[in-house]
Amino acid sequence: MKISLSILNVNYACVYDSLKDILDEVDYIHLDVMDGEFVPNISFGPDFVKSIKKVSTKPFDTHLMIKHPQNYIEQFVKAGSDYITFHYEADCNSMDVINEIKSYNVKAGISIKPSTKLDEIKKYLPYLDMVLIMSVEPGFGGQGFMEESIEKVKELKRLKDENNYNYLINIDGGINDETAKKISEYVDLAVVGSYLSKAQNKKENLEKLKRI
Ligand code: DX5
Ligand code: ZN
Repeated sequence: MKISLSILNVNYACVYDSLKDILDEVDYIHLDVMDGEFVPNISFGPDFVKSIKKVSTKPFDTHLMIKHPQNYIEQFVKAGSDYITFHYEADCNSMDVINEIKSYNVKAGISIKPSTKLDEIKKYLPYLDMVLIMSVEPGFGGQGFMEESIEKVKELKRLKDENNYNYLINIDGGINDETAKKISEYVDLAVVGSYLSKAQNKKENLEKLKRI
């Protein structure tokens, strides 16, 4: 299980300083983009992503929690995203957005909220490079892991193995050294926010996750 470090619950005045101990040790950087419409919180936009790109060589896993992802794909491509994941529940045509992301040679991902059934996105699975299962209600870091998400990643793995699909299975929300044990055999990577960014000893917590 690889680790995608979420840049959300951090001190924005000194993002680099607060994360520099682990920036090179994680596998991906997860950028949580929120518009205050799709979720009740506002985070940051493409300029912020661009500035983080200057201090990290890791692949960028951009998570768009925005109502109209179709209007912003190009900007997040230019900002340096390697993966762009949008929400199935957003106000857009999912297949069009997948195609647009791929037209820039960027990997395309789809995410579903805890209340959305996996069945609803099954038809897109052959075209996806990533599926992101939300294990908390999107909008805020530091929430508790929702156990129902375990079944979803299990099923995604079964479908992937059975059909030889290419997508990476990713999970987002409430991951720590306890909850990671419940999903590590099914996912390719996991998003980790506060368990790392709020830790006294970030390296130690990262080591604990890597051992799982
Ligand atoms: C929630 C975000 C997550 C979040 C993860 O809407 O998508 O990426 O920041 O943070 P933790 O690990 O604290 O749940
Ligand atoms: Zn996220």
